[in-house]
Amino acid sequence: PQVTYTDHTGASRTVAANVGDSVMETAVRNGVPGIVAECGGSLSCATCHVYVDQDALDSLPPMEEMEDEMLWGAAEDRQDNSRLSCQLKVTDGCDLHVTTPTTQV
Ligand code: FES
Repeated sequence: PQVTYTDHTGASRTVAANVGDSVMETAVRNGVPGIVAECGGSLSCATCHVYVDQDALDSLPPMEEMEDEMLWGAAEDRQDNSRLSCQLKVTDGCDLHVTTPTTQV
């Protein structure tokens, strides 16, 4: 599988991802800008905020209550397609495209 990240300037990067890794880990390991991930994935920073393509959104597992709560504290306003990328697992056969907020560089 692969994950494509588009930053707020419109620049995109596509990287190969390992099944089971999070979308956040995949970005950090590949040096993809736009995902800060201050807390390292422990669901306490909301600096891994991403916007997921609408058509892929339905195929993702629904968010847990804690992710939902953390998203209200994200620096850039949450949208209907907001998720925290440390909670998004890469799955087999599912390529994802996410857009990162202007507040995360
Ligand atoms: Fe901190 Fe996702 S990395 S909430």
